[in-house]
Amino acid sequence: MDERIIRINTAADYIREKIGNAVPVAGIILGSGLGKLANDIEEPVTIPYKDIPGFPVSTAIGHKGQFIFGKLGGKLVLAMQGRFHYYEGYPMELVTLPVRVMKVLGVQFLFVSNAAGSCNHDHKVGDLVIIKDHINTLPNPLIGPNMEEFGPRFPDLTCAYDLELLDKAEKLCIELGIPPKRGVYFVSSGPTYETPAEVRFYRAVGADLVGMSTVPEVIVARHCGLRVFGMSVVTNSSNLFNEYGNLNDGDDVVKQADIAATKMTQLFKRLIEEI
Ligand code: HPA
Repeated sequence: MDERIIRINTAADYIREKIGNAVPVAGIILGSGLGKLANDIEEPVTIPYKDIPGFPVSTAIGHKGQFIFGKLGGKLVLAMQGRFHYYEGYPMELVTLPVRVMKVLGVQFLFVSNAAGSCNHDHKVGDLVIIKDHINTLPNPLIGPNMEEFGPRFPDLTCAYDLELLDKAEKLCIELGIPPKRGVYFVSSGPTYETPAEVRFYRAVGADLVGMSTVPEVIVARHCGLRVFGMSVVTNSSNLFNEYGNLNDGDDVVKQADIAATKMTQLFKRLIEEI
């Protein structure tokens, strides 16, 4: 059997046992500084990544490194407090392993969040921006023999971000007093922040947001048919606006994300109620 499938099933079996064979409907990936959504999960079961066979351990700042299973918005969810980034040195197979594990556990929806730099003057620090599309510059996580049990060789990404969830989220933003904003997310490998010239380039090709995550997980989620909702929290103006001094700083990113996490939690909760 394909070693990748064995790894996925072994991790899924371990988690299934910990959650008493329950079937979560939604998976949630919490980005840097956004982990406090997990505090709102009722009857939580915590599963540290380090205990899961075959799982990597998240080393990034602002990431706790555990699953929290429980109820949010009246639905069973499996949330990741911390994700795996390509810049940490993990191969794409491990960066995206949790998404396939979630699929095997029965998840139908994936809610992804991240901290991002803005390269659009209309998106300010503290804004929540619904991801409507992305631009990938990382190695595609589907490179290699196709896992037929999960999806097709050539998946379509026309509507990678579910249009119905996007519309619902926009309506909920208005209801919750959050300015409804949409944007295109550009992924760079990191771990360096961008140079001003790079950000001008990203802006020129249509990006509104720049970050170091999310896209690999979304590609793998779409490959296996999960419906995806993505949200960025703008934690800093990218270097488009900082020509003469690099104002980007990882601690500040986590601090700004933490402030915005309360609003994001409200939105995710309401959106999950509606799925
Ligand atoms: N660039 C890349 N990744 C990021 C940024 C940024 O400005 N802010 C938060 N994550």
